[in-house]
Amino acid sequence: MDDLGFHDALAMLDWQIELGADEAIVDTPIDRFGLAEQAPSAPAAQMAPAPRAAQPMAHATLPPEAALTINAVALAQEASAAAQDLAGLKAAVAGFAHCPLRDTAVQLVFADGLPGARVMIVGEAPGREEEQQGKPFVGQAGQLLDKMLEAIGLDRAATDPAHAVYIANVVPWRPPQNRKPTPEELAMMAPFMRRHIALAAPDLVVLMGNAACEALLGQTGITRLRGEWVTLDTCPALPMLHPAYLFRRPQDKALAWADLLSLKARLRGLS
Ligand code: URA
Repeated sequence: MDDLGFHDALAMLDWQIELGADEAIVDTPIDRFGLAEQAPSAPAAQMAPAPRAAQPMAHATLPPEAALTINAVALAQEASAAAQDLAGLKAAVAGFAHCPLRDTAVQLVFADGLPGARVMIVGEAPGREEEQQGKPFVGQAGQLLDKMLEAIGLDRAATDPAHAVYIANVVPWRPPQNRKPTPEELAMMAPFMRRHIALAAPDLVVLMGNAACEALLGQTGITRLRGEWVTLDTCPALPMLHPAYLFRRPQDKALAWADLLSLKARLRGLS
């Protein structure tokens, strides 16, 4: 490492940022490989698994994490159903203490754009810029999203519902190091997003990427799902390639363009 030149060091930093390691958590580096060599081997008693906490009868055959998730999903369903408007829903999300991401995030990122817009975009989770600004899709992927929307006459800053969009993420807190939300986190936040869609009442929903499809349709495989309209509760929904994916695979921008045209045609058909 000492011999690393400037350009190699910069390339390694870029690579780490790409992987999501974009924040220093201590002032001096820790050599984890060195620590592993020094660590005494753990005595057998320490290695034994911790005794299991008693599980509710209904979940007796499930591992503890699954039972906890089921409880969290039920609690999320209850809390979201009680919300009568978007302000109430925002308060319910903010008060939902069962998602571990709430504890590590700097702030809640609830939504941006115009509630009541004809189109609602549902993304995955906020990243660093989104968390800083408290708004979804404002970083690099968000800027590409804005351009994609602009190409079909939509704008998150518009004030008339026909040209406006409303934007939110299934997971409203930034996962540490921008890791992907776990299936459990998606499952427990999905009831809030379903209620969010019901209260915002768009004509059409765009499911941006795999996480939104997994949470709301129970399906993954965005390259297969994209471009095919589905019904989400009562609302037509279009799975699309996430703008972050398009940065990795710019050759797929033509597919995204086809989906944008499909969205535009559907909006025309509704007006
Ligand atoms: N990606 C998302 O899915 N949502 C954001 O808000 C930003 C990036």
